[in-house]
Amino acid sequence: MSHPEETVLILDFGSQVTQLIARRVREAGVYSEIVPFAKGGEAFERLRPRAVILSGSPASAADADSPRVPEAVLAADVPILAICYGEQVLCEQTGGKVLPSGHREFGRAGIDIVDDCLLFEGVWAKGERREVWMSHGDRIDSIPPGYRAVAVSDGAPFAAIADDVQRRYGVQFHPEVVHTPEGAALLANFVYKVAGMSASWSMAGFRAAKIAEIRAQVGSERVLCGLSGGVDSAVAAVLIHEAIGDQLTCVFVDHGLLRQGEAEQVVGLFREHYHIPLVHVDASETFMAGLAGVTDPEAKRKFIGGAFIDVFEAEAKKIGGVRFLAQGTLYPDVIESVSFTGGPSVTIKSHHNVGGLPARMNMALVEPLRELFKDEVRRLGVELGLPPAFVGRHPFPGPGLAIRIPGEVTREACDTLRKADAIYLDEIRKAGLYDAIWQAFAVLLPVRTVGVMGDGRTYEKVCGLRAVTSVDGMTADVFPFESAFLSRVATRIVNEVQGINRVVYDYTSKPPGTIEWE
Ligand code: XMP
Repeated sequence: MSHPEETVLILDFGSQVTQLIARRVREAGVYSEIVPFAKGGEAFERLRPRAVILSGSPASAADADSPRVPEAVLAADVPILAICYGEQVLCEQTGGKVLPSGHREFGRAGIDIVDDCLLFEGVWAKGERREVWMSHGDRIDSIPPGYRAVAVSDGAPFAAIADDVQRRYGVQFHPEVVHTPEGAALLANFVYKVAGMSASWSMAGFRAAKIAEIRAQVGSERVLCGLSGGVDSAVAAVLIHEAIGDQLTCVFVDHGLLRQGEAEQVVGLFREHYHIPLVHVDASETFMAGLAGVTDPEAKRKFIGGAFIDVFEAEAKKIGGVRFLAQGTLYPDVIESVSFTGGPSVTIKSHHNVGGLPARMNMALVEPLRELFKDEVRRLGVELGLPPAFVGRHPFPGPGLAIRIPGEVTREACDTLRKADAIYLDEIRKAGLYDAIWQAFAVLLPVRTVGVMGDGRTYEKVCGLRAVTSVDGMTADVFPFESAFLSRVATRIVNEVQGINRVVYDYTSKPPGTIEWE
């Protein structure tokens, strides 16, 4: 996308929390892009950013071959906010000194504000003590000419440094994480007061710019969009429809592994509400037949991913003459990661996506959400008039219920699970907890246990309940329901769903567990 006039360039040195910097800056209403440090020089030329932020890193700035800030950035007259490793490498490269230190500072820390500066204006004042989140081993020994210390901590004499003339600041702590309570205000100060930018990045502006861009890209050709029932593909479809109208056709492949009422909801919304041409393919026979006898989680995922592409391709051929394929790809999928571990990371689960499709079908991609984070997609969805309840739905995996039924997936098992899942979510909604939870769902286990109902013995399956809080699905905490709530759900499921006589709650965080059971 042609980037907005006012952009913040975030140079990534491989910190776990770099994405949070981009989110905080965007929340302040300013567009930001993350670029790996090695491509920083090229990106600086291309984006012409109004400000630069240097991220943290697992590397050591005292190490001579650790990642560096491109010289073009340092030589330019551009405001810089250097975070953690960023502060250290800024010091190393511009006349200061960093030393390895035996004293590690990690987690919450108190800092003393020893001087005022533009970055702190209206947020922190000289003489105050404030809480921040630290994570560093090395120590800055001396700072470059022109800078002064504005905050100190026990472990860091240069917890924050400032050069108000050059408009460059270094902070040893992480303002982007919520554990630094005033961190967002400091980042807002940086973009508004230090860099002189305004809150020009809005969903209304994005929508208008994207519509023009889609029209220019597609011209009078036709576009195909696969709907998964999820929020991302739905928002992409509505946006593209607004741009090119009935040049767009949506294909909804129903694999029979959806939640209760899901297919009807998607078809109703798109056909009846938006009047978007929609092909609803009931491919449940194909999927169920292919899944018969398959119990290995990876085998299930591989089969479903492949079958999805086959069905989709067959439909596309029937429609004919389509040059473009739309996908709801999000920003976290396209940010290039900076790796210091070397070698490829281990595949925990092969995610279901349609990545192989465009090459096979010789289609160009339309990916209007490539610059957005999930929460921004939700805001865009509301902006486009999608019902808030639809937009706020919990994520649902591509392989659907198949990965929530350990062991063999059958139509009967899917039906049983759908009922239990619907009861669980119904109770969550009634308790007003839906929006506080990242994802909640039921799983159906292949084990049978003995129970007693009325005067009789039962021997039925076990239902597991999962609910987690998370920011991005990468890590997750267990949602702490009250026991009365869980009892209510367990009672309802056992009473109302035939085939289940026991309910358990999954108390595993991620890591070491994953969110889905397979
Ligand atoms: P895990 O189970 O890996 O899940 O902790 C993290 C998040 O990803 C979702 N998930 C998927 N989403 N296709 C998707 O589109 C998949 O194959 C897939 N597998 C897991 C999961 O629901 C959770 O939100």
